[in-house]
Amino acid sequence: ALCQIKITVDPSQTDHTIAPEIYGQFAEHLGGCIYGGLWVGPESNLPNVRGYRKDVLEALKQLKVPVLRWPGGCFADDYHWRDGIGQRDQRPRTLNIYWGGEETNAFGTHEFLDLCELLDCEAYVAGNVGSGTVEEMREWVEYMTSDSQSELAQLRRKNGREKPWRVKYFGVGNENWGCGGNMTAEYYSDLYRRYATYVRDFSGNRITKVANGPSGRDLPFMKTLVGNAHEHADAFSMHYYVLPNSDWNVKGSALNFPESEWFSVMQQTYQVKELIEDYIAILDESDPDKRLDLYVDEWGTWYDPGTDTPSALYQQNSIRDAVSAALFLHIFHEHADRITMGNIAQVVNVLQAMILTRDDEILLTPTYHVFEMYKVHQGSSHIPLTFESPIYTCDSAEAPPLNPPSSFKADAQPGKPWINSIDAVSASASLATDGTITVSLVNTSPTDAYPVEITYAGNSLDHVNGRVLRSDRLDGHNTFDTPDAVQPRSISNLKTVGNTVQFLLPPASVSTVSATHS
Ligand code: AHR
Repeated sequence: ALCQIKITVDPSQTDHTIAPEIYGQFAEHLGGCIYGGLWVGPESNLPNVRGYRKDVLEALKQLKVPVLRWPGGCFADDYHWRDGIGQRDQRPRTLNIYWGGEETNAFGTHEFLDLCELLDCEAYVAGNVGSGTVEEMREWVEYMTSDSQSELAQLRRKNGREKPWRVKYFGVGNENWGCGGNMTAEYYSDLYRRYATYVRDFSGNRITKVANGPSGRDLPFMKTLVGNAHEHADAFSMHYYVLPNSDWNVKGSALNFPESEWFSVMQQTYQVKELIEDYIAILDESDPDKRLDLYVDEWGTWYDPGTDTPSALYQQNSIRDAVSAALFLHIFHEHADRITMGNIAQVVNVLQAMILTRDDEILLTPTYHVFEMYKVHQGSSHIPLTFESPIYTCDSAEAPPLNPPSSFKADAQPGKPWINSIDAVSASASLATDGTITVSLVNTSPTDAYPVEITYAGNSLDHVNGRVLRSDRLDGHNTFDTPDAVQPRSISNLKTVGNTVQFLLPPASVSTVSATHS
């Protein structure tokens, strides 16, 4: 179907700023994320910078990572920070009760916070409520951020760090309704109030305290938590994972999937918008002045492990993941007056990763390329767009079952009734401080290309530049042998006519068009 898409962009009509932290990352002690992914240790034969993998570090620098969340995830509520300080070869070996294997604790507080400095990003530390004490949490914050002569600040100095670090974000627990202690909303919100009281600002460090909300759709949990804890929090978080079959036992596979599973990923991605709006409505009741922020501090696709999966929750990443990620980001932009952070799960070798590693090789995933193409949106002013999208209907798509409850997932509640039609095209735009206007476009249709015409209100255009990420296959992906199979290329058919830009938007693709006004 050849149906033209007409978009008008008026850079004088911006609304809110797109917080850079919306492009945040998440690193958990899980599978190959920390060990082998981010950290190989200074003695490794692999090229490294003080123990951090050099190739991974360089690739991440290209993304301008704004914030990194650590150490979990579920791991956070079984993590005792004192295990991860002091001389590395003397740190205790512990067990990773959630993700298996032994934890050497070689990567701890110093290694994490130094990494944030190398990446020039904010630190988001998740504290332990599930199995840790209030005292332990309070002391961790003092250890990291106090410039005093206290015993803990001196211990940090003895361990090699003279000046305190800046820790901007602190999560009081993680998924405490599930792996973080199986608590009720009432119980967690009481504990939240208690623990958060002792998370203090030291030596000029100002901590943003995060109360963690539900995964998936759990409005009653969020309502109780916000009602009880809003005066003691700066932000509330939510998690949202997309499983093609919406079933934790049979999630669906990362590659070689039927069109119905392509469609289901897109539809569920769109559905996060409705959920975000429901959660924002809950925040609005207690906080009409919008002091409180909403963080989507875990999000992304989650597939069944393949037969040759090298480590826990390792999965391949295809153009489907890239298209879904771009849709998520558009939805976050639209709600950036409340959503000021997102942390895709996870940065290396776990779930919807930016980077996959194998021994001394790395590959950049299609999702990495979306984060790279979209980095111009970080800190830019959002320009609202209205345009009409064609509809993508998938006749073979069936309503997925409701998520059955699992050991670490809340039961889902029904959202909107299932439909097998969605908008084929989504677009989002922003104005950067240097005057660059960027329009990003997603085409979820697996078969249809659409001619696009973008009209820019105002003067004629300069420096028009278009890039597209696409593949001939719905599961097109990069491998260690063909690492550049899916990567952004310039839009070859892009035409500038006066103050309009025209091009053909290919199926199953993500594009960005940047321009400045002369
Ligand atoms: O990202 C993987 C896991 O998903 C995290 O540990 C947990 O918070 C969530 O359930």
